Amino acid sequence: MKKYLIETFGCQMNIHDSEKIAGMLRSLGYTETEKKEDADIIVFNTCCIRESAELKILSKIGDIKPLKKVKKDLIVAVCGCMSQQKKRAEYIKEKYPYVDIIIGTHNLNDLETHIKDAISSRKKSLDVVESEGEVKEFDSIYRTSRFNAWVNIMYGCNNFCTYCIVPYVRGRERSRKVEDIVREVEELARSGKYKTITLLGQNVNSYGKDFGDNKTNFVYLLSKLCQIEGDFKLKFMTSHPKDFSSELVDFISKTDKVSHAIHLPVQSGSDSVLKRMNRSYTISQYKNLVTEIYRKIPDASLTTDIIVGFPGETEEDFEGTLDLVKFCNYTGVFGFVYSRRKGTPADTFEDQIDAKAKKSRITRLFALQREIIKKQLENMVGKVTVAMIDEEKDGYFIAKTDNGKSIRVCGDFSLGDTTCVKATNLKNGELFGEQIGGKND
Ligand code: 5AD
Ligand code: SF4
Repeated sequence: MKKYLIETFGCQMNIHDSEKIAGMLRSLGYTETEKKEDADIIVFNTCCIRESAELKILSKIGDIKPLKKVKKDLIVAVCGCMSQQKKRAEYIKEKYPYVDIIIGTHNLNDLETHIKDAISSRKKSLDVVESEGEVKEFDSIYRTSRFNAWVNIMYGCNNFCTYCIVPYVRGRERSRKVEDIVREVEELARSGKYKTITLLGQNVNSYGKDFGDNKTNFVYLLSKLCQIEGDFKLKFMTSHPKDFSSELVDFISKTDKVSHAIHLPVQSGSDSVLKRMNRSYTISQYKNLVTEIYRKIPDASLTTDIIVGFPGETEEDFEGTLDLVKFCNYTGVFGFVYSRRKGTPADTFEDQIDAKAKKSRITRLFALQREIIKKQLENMVGKVTVAMIDEEKDGYFIAKTDNGKSIRVCGDFSLGDTTCVKATNLKNGELFGEQIGGKND
């Protein structure tokens, strides 16, 4: 039996694309292996959001060289966001001539044909197309996350934040048809395997805009999906604050089918930085949105993305970010050091920030977030929350709450059970608790 190994880099979109690649490979008769020495095909599904990601991937591709020398039939494929950039694709072809297939994001569905060609004739291919084309449906998806299923609702991004490479490698916004999404979610619900179904898009709040029919928007889609029967919650990512409507906040507050964990990237706590980032909202508008969410959905759990060291960011701007983080009481902050990306406007901005200041800011941001999380955990002690048994570790079951916290519990559980847990104490930053009532109560 031939074996495949897929190395995935980057975001949830890429993780899900790898599930589509796995589906293709399995339909060609391959089974999975975790050891590169056992693999007959290795696929690198790449990311280019920051320079660090690209450097890591190139070094991983370099690591394959000795293996390819002794295993001549090994097929090496590189796909995804990094190779969607034509210059990068050509660089890979030149520097790593043992790579058999180089393909971008727009024509991922052609990967299967290239693999077949590589098997039958050892044909090498570089196939990066400029245009994103129509939305494509994938026949077989091999799902790899246990209790969560990813579902694409749209592709691409029209926002062109000045730091971001995504619009250049993922193309313009294209929404998947409502009926195709409904059919996929119905199938997932029927399988009964998934506790959460996460709707994916670079900016899910602009879902349907490209249909131009004044009816199909994100709330419309959610309302259709909430009618599907089954024991699952819907999540979605990522949201752009400028498009997060009051209609959506109201909708979430009135249904029990949508998770209250909301990812709402702010990027910076300074109006002047936001303006230069082309984010189209002010801090006061963002704060109003957060206040509205907490008022209408009191147990909402907000997470965010923040970039530190954007060109021209002053100490005062950065302190604005720290203040905002305190205001929002996030349950999670994904903090990133600004990375220059060729072809984006911010790469040409003057006043690039030096590495030392960037490092100091990211360290201070994470330290603040650790303090906030500690307080949130302390506040949970004595309270009862609904949680899902996610894994078994060191003699405990790990119960995960909707707001992303882990509580260690003992009991007669199976993975995937939903249960009420009372957090009883906090030790070394970890919550311990006990089951209240029966499981699946
Ligand atoms: N440098 C650092 N972080 C970036 N992000 C996007 N582009 C860059 C960049 N050039 C971050 C943003 C985005 C997240 C997915 O990655 O915070 O929300
Ligand atoms: Fe990048 Fe901005 Fe689009 Fe998000 S909204 S993918 S940060 S351009």
